[in-house]
Amino acid sequence: MNTPIADIFSAAHQCVASQQVEEKLQLTKVTAQQWREGYFCLATDLPVQAIGEAGHPAKPLLVSPVKVPRRGLGSEEGRAALIHAVTHIEFNAINLAWDAVYRFRGLPKQYYDDWVRVADEEAYHFELLSKRLQSLGYQYGDFPAHNGLWSMAQKTADDPMVRMALVPRVLEARGLDVTPGMMARLKKAGDDETVAILEIILRDEIGHVEIGSRWFKYFCDERALNPEVTFRKLIDDYFVGELRGPFDYELRQQAGFSIEELEALDVLARQPAKE
Ligand SMILES: [Fe+2]
Ligand SMILES: [Fe+2]
Repeated sequence: MNTPIADIFSAAHQCVASQQVEEKLQLTKVTAQQWREGYFCLATDLPVQAIGEAGHPAKPLLVSPVKVPRRGLGSEEGRAALIHAVTHIEFNAINLAWDAVYRFRGLPKQYYDDWVRVADEEAYHFELLSKRLQSLGYQYGDFPAHNGLWSMAQKTADDPMVRMALVPRVLEARGLDVTPGMMARLKKAGDDETVAILEIILRDEIGHVEIGSRWFKYFCDERALNPEVTFRKLIDDYFVGELRGPFDYELRQQAGFSIEELEALDVLARQPAKE
């Protein structure tokens, strides 16, 4: 174990701020490795800055979700567009994990262990997918992408309980619902290489959502709140009319959702949008 010589919050901030893809990946890997080696401490004078834009490269062009073109998976371009969309989610996920480390202070060391690990795994996912894109003749930035994930980080920047509920347990958890179907469609299109990558990602993402569930319950317990009631209320406040099912009960249960919670989500997903 090394003597800690730097604080993890400064390092996490640097990872979020980096605008170069390669640099962000490299910083993420090195920081995660050094965290595991005991290089960082949890004490800092660094004030928490208000959340702004996370560092991202000039491309992909960020557009509203409806303007992201959808293509069939029959063509290589169509598959590349789908892989690009997932690659972009992973890029955002690196920023989201580091922001969860940077922004919320004074928590048990396990919280930082968990979110540093998530950042490291998201960088790995990004690399797997961007290499796959390259083998199809494309690269990250070639298609437009949307910015919905980061805007949820901005809406949940003031409260780690709300962040845990709405980022890992709603946005990341959506991946558990849709990835098995995506894998089936890619398999049908004969793209076994991408299917193998998505298998790794799906396995890790169950872990990320489980981390979100665990810390959400921790914050609820601290405040003597019922986690299931609180989760439903937060969905109602932030997502009503926008929550999309169907939900993968089996994978979500592995990630810390109860049957009652999933049944409540089914009801919420059927509600009309708020005016
Ligand atoms: Fe991921
Ligand atoms: Fe994730």
